[in-house]
Amino acid sequence: MVWRVSEEVFPTISEEVILTINGITVRAPQGQSLLVTVRDHGIDIPTLCYHSDLKPEGQCRMCVVEIGEWPRTRLVNSCTYPTEAGLVVQTHSEEVLAARRMVLELLRAQAPAAELIKQMAAAMGVYETRFKISDPEERCILCGLCVRTCRDIVGVSAISMASRTPAKEVVTPFKEASEACIGCGSCAFVCPTDVIPYTEKEGVRTIWGRNFELQACTVCGNYIAPQYQLEHWAKITGDPVEMFFVCRDCR
Ligand code: SF4
Ligand code: FES
Repeated sequence: MVWRVSEEVFPTISEEVILTINGITVRAPQGQSLLVTVRDHGIDIPTLCYHSDLKPEGQCRMCVVEIGEWPRTRLVNSCTYPTEAGLVVQTHSEEVLAARRMVLELLRAQAPAAELIKQMAAAMGVYETRFKISDPEERCILCGLCVRTCRDIVGVSAISMASRTPAKEVVTPFKEASEACIGCGSCAFVCPTDVIPYTEKEGVRTIWGRNFELQACTVCGNYIAPQYQLEHWAKITGDPVEMFFVCRDCR
């Protein structure tokens, strides 16, 4: 669900440059995220905190790649690193794979109950963690996607990161029902580990401790979205709110 993107992710994209990925010479737009360049050439790189509509923040470090030529190489987050002329990139070197395994071990300690992390870790042969587990039921990996989506795409900033590690968590202001929340559920939809709970029952969506009445389509009667969300859309677009009372299928 994308309503608006507040700024260009990589605003300096200009002409094409030549670089090398896994020994193959390729062309790509200068300044584009290295992650996008690598993926554009059919190479898979795992990510947890990247979303194409958000400015990358390099939180999870799963997208790490190795740049440079031996012995002068280093590991960088490909999501936040720009594509440059002459770059020599390795996406699956021993160093890269070891770094990703380490990240997964850390994430297994941070979020032991997160199924996605267990699966990603198992796929890389990581079944245990050497790091301290604070909460065996934790599923949040602190990737920040929910907070950034709420702030930069929805534009309401109803949630934020509070405290420092190990007490860091996603919360509403003062941990109370957020007045700013419009009940859109974007935070829950974008969360890679399905941590943010919400329910929908008899025309009411409950999320972040608040109940939101859902607007029914005036043609078919199916529920569309919370009324607060439709009012938010109306404010953004300048259209009357009634414009949003008909669902996409009935338009
Ligand atoms: S709740 Fe989900 S999206 Fe938000 S920081 Fe935690 S894992 Fe990331
Ligand atoms: S996807 Fe690049 S650091 Fe998370």
